[in-house]
Amino acid sequence: MTTEQVKELSDEELTSLTTAIKGRYGIDFTNYEPKSLKRGFARLIMKKQLGSVLGLWSKIMQDREFILGCIDDLTVNLTELFRNPEIWVKIQNDIIPILKNKFRLNMWHAGCSSGEEVYTMAIVLQNADLLRKTKALATDLSNSILAEAMKGEYPSYLVSKYSKSFNDYLPTAKMETFFDLSDGKAAVKDFLRKHIEFQQHNLVQDPMERKFDVVFCRNVMIYFDEALKMKVLRLFHQSLENDGFLIVGYYDMMPDASKELFQVIDAKTRIYKKISK
Ligand SMILES: C[S@@+](CC[C@H](N)C(=O)[O-])C[C@H]1O[C@@H](n2cnc3c(N)ncnc32)[C@H](O)[C@@H]1O
Repeated sequence: MTTEQVKELSDEELTSLTTAIKGRYGIDFTNYEPKSLKRGFARLIMKKQLGSVLGLWSKIMQDREFILGCIDDLTVNLTELFRNPEIWVKIQNDIIPILKNKFRLNMWHAGCSSGEEVYTMAIVLQNADLLRKTKALATDLSNSILAEAMKGEYPSYLVSKYSKSFNDYLPTAKMETFFDLSDGKAAVKDFLRKHIEFQQHNLVQDPMERKFDVVFCRNVMIYFDEALKMKVLRLFHQSLENDGFLIVGYYDMMPDASKELFQVIDAKTRIYKKISK
């Protein structure tokens, strides 16, 4: 069976599931974009063979741990090394020279998935000799995807794709400088990993006490409605240094109201700068 064989969820069914999850586990999916969340629930019903929305709802009510192990079925985790190459070139040419003047650098990768974007930035920083003064915080809602990010080990079926992206960006460098390439896998070397701290964090609900020079939040808000996007953008605004940058994904549409918080630095690569009040 495919997800198409689970009848499309109605708005009422979606609300009953998100309300049950919020009440039972304290995880708030109520302002996620409904279409993609409905697909996520349909996937979960199929995968766990729960038969129907009612089956899923009963499982949520009966099993205290259930949803915690299913976050990755409800959300989308797609990521890759050097995804959208022009962004990394833009960062290297226009943002890195500004960051060079800083004494310390703090980065936040919000919704880091399995870590490829975090390691890409670490490589860009190392190349500019800035990694030594950098601390990066990589966060995600899902503990299981964070465990993969922390491991930083990418399987053989991804290695040729990632080698190509790496070589396109750094034609004169060797991937072996940054990854241990054995048994067909690519494992991130410790000198990159030691600058990164991984932490479970829910953008919808959790505060952030630290300040950052750059916040990456790419392809996460795409699944949020306008009200939730603004809530999260306010969190980023408050977590950025006054001259800090926000980098979002190509399809992350910024609400009009965000123009008071961020100015566009480069519309094509979706780089913004905090407007300090
Ligand atoms: C498509 S991936 C983006 C990965 C990476 N930023 C990129 O663009 O390559 C989206 C990630 O957002 C995470 N996510 C979804 N809702 C979240 C939330 N409320 N708080 C933190 N992370 C969330 C998902 O678990 C998933 O790993």
